[in-house]
Amino acid sequence: MWQNKNIEKFVSEKLDHEHSGHDWGHIDRVRKIAIHIAAIEGADRRICEIAALVHDLIDDKLFDDEEIALNEVIYFLKSEGISESDINHIVEIITTMSFSKSQEKSMRTLEGKVVQDADRLDALGAIGIARTFKYAGAKGDAMYNPAIKARTEQMTKDEYRNGESTAINHFYEKLFKLKGLMNTKEAVKIAEERHNFMEHFVDQFLTEWVGKDF
Ligand code: ADP
Ligand code: NI
Repeated sequence: MWQNKNIEKFVSEKLDHEHSGHDWGHIDRVRKIAIHIAAIEGADRRICEIAALVHDLIDDKLFDDEEIALNEVIYFLKSEGISESDINHIVEIITTMSFSKSQEKSMRTLEGKVVQDADRLDALGAIGIARTFKYAGAKGDAMYNPAIKARTEQMTKDEYRNGESTAINHFYEKLFKLKGLMNTKEAVKIAEERHNFMEHFVDQFLTEWVGKDF
């Protein structure tokens, strides 16, 4: 019988030393949002919950070899007695999510749409702002550089390496776009408020940067 606790333990141990924004807190929030959206959209709660729990275990930022990481997840889910068709579904969800970070690829199933929305929602709002600055700090990026403000296309790998990416620019290259990419109505609703909060934050940041408020 599938045990929530076993999966939680498996995931939290793997992310134990993770500080790039994929810590256990992120996983737990994504799981909770996914369960909430699943209930409203009529998606399979169990598939959404398991996929949310394991969704970052194949991220190439965290694990050197995605193939090996994926096989470990599959092996573990099998050992938990999860059926082959459910495992295939979960694998499809997490590999599509990982893939669509670099290229647009849409989710085939409702459960996939729900989990993708949940992951994207955790990149928004106050938590999204905090994760962005934490990530930029961990990479040694600047908070802001007026020269590259509001560049909306993704930076190239070389530009990242040269330190041209900044926390503020991440809002333009990704975060402000996410509201328009949500799959489900409920996610759009939640995204709206988080989006407005981020806009307000960036406005205020830029106001203080140039000293327009005094
Ligand atoms: P996830 O899919 O779990 O949200 P990501 O690897 O896309 O994970 O990003 C982790 C966190 O770091 C997110 O909050 C994301 O917005 C943020 N992030 C990703 N890339 C950058 C970047 N270049 N600069 C600042 N923050 C970033
Ligand atoms: Ni994630």
